[in-house]
Amino acid sequence: MGALLGASGVGASPEPRRRPIPSSGEKIPIVGLGTWSTFDVGSAAAERRPLEEVLARFSERGGRVVDSSPMYGRSEAVVGEVAAKQGLAGKLFLATKVWTRGRQAGVTQMETSERLLGTKRLDLLQVHNLLDVETHLATLRAWKEAGRVRYIGITHYTASAYPEVERVLRREKFDFLQVNYSLAEREAEKRILPLAREKGVAVLVNRPFGGGEALRRVLGKPLPAWAAEFDCRSWAQFFLKWILADPAVTCAIPATGKRAHLDDDLDAALGRFPDEKLRRRMVDVF
Ligand SMILES: NC(=O)c1ccc[n+]([C@@H]2O[C@H](COP(=O)([O-])OP(=O)(O)OC[C@H]3O[C@@H](n4cnc5c(N)ncnc54)[C@H](OP(=O)(O)O)[C@@H]3O)[C@@H](O)[C@H]2O)c1
Repeated sequence: MGALLGASGVGASPEPRRRPIPSSGEKIPIVGLGTWSTFDVGSAAAERRPLEEVLARFSERGGRVVDSSPMYGRSEAVVGEVAAKQGLAGKLFLATKVWTRGRQAGVTQMETSERLLGTKRLDLLQVHNLLDVETHLATLRAWKEAGRVRYIGITHYTASAYPEVERVLRREKFDFLQVNYSLAEREAEKRILPLAREKGVAVLVNRPFGGGEALRRVLGKPLPAWAAEFDCRSWAQFFLKWILADPAVTCAIPATGKRAHLDDDLDAALGRFPDEKLRRRMVDVF
C-alpha cells in the first residue's frame, strides 16, 4: 500500500487506477481533468504557464480524460494549443460537447471543436445540458458509425434536470453520461447512477467539489482521523474518494489550474477507498 501513495512528491508515479467503458471495455483512468473557467485564459505566458504545467503533469502521471465544451470560452483552444506545445497530441482522451440548436449548427460547432482541440477524431462528443438532444444524438450516431468520433454521450449539471436525463437515458443509446455528483450534490445516487449502471453507460462525474464551493467550506478544517483508513490525506481526496468508491462511476473530472492541486486530485485514485459504512460517515461529517 505504501508504495502506492505519496505520488505528489518526486520520482516515478504509480499507474493510475482504471475502469472500463462498458460499451467497449476500453479502460480509462478514474481521475480526469475538467476545463471550465480554469482553461478559459488569454495567450499571455503568465496565464498559460500554470496550465502547461498542469496538462504536462496530468499526462506524465498517466491522466487521459480532458473534458471541455464550446460553452467554456477559450478553453477548447487553450487545451489544443497547450497539448500541441507539450507534445501531447494523441496521448489524451479528448472529450468535448455540442451546445447549440439545429443539425447544421451542431455539425459546424463540432468541426470547430476538432480544429481547436487539434484532432480529426474526438474521443467523446457529448450533448451539453441536453440542448436539442434528439437532433444532435442523431448526428453523433452517424459520426460514430462513420468513425468520426469514438464515443458519444450527454451531460447535465443539476438535479432539476434529472427527470429529463432519466427519460433520455431510458430511451436513447449512447456510451457516456456526464452528471454532477459529490458530497454536496448527492441526488444522482437515487435514480440516475443506478440506471446508468443498469444500462451499461459510463459515468463521468462533473462538479466533484460542487464547483469548488463545497470544498472551500471545509478547507482549513481538520480531516477526521479515520480518513487515514482509506488513505485520504486532504479534503479534495475526501471528496473524490467518496465519489470514486461508487461502482457506477467511471471517472471524475475535477478542474484545477494548479499543479499542486492536480497532484492532490490524482492521488485520490491511489490507495484504499472507503467502504459503504465509511461513505455514510463521510456524508455525516460533511
Ligand atoms: N453541464 C456540463 O456538462 C458541466 C457542468 C459543470 C461542469 N462540467 C465539467 O466538470 C468539470 C468540473 O466541474 P467544475 O469545474 O464546475 O468544478 P469542480 O471540479 O467541482 O471544482 C473546481 C474548483 O476546485 C478547485 N480545486 C481543484 N482541486 C483542488 C484541490 N486539490 N484543492 C483545492 N482546490 C481545488 C479549483 O481551484 P484551483 O484552480 O485553485 O485548483 C476550482 O476552483 C468542469 O471543469 C467541466 O469540464 C460540465
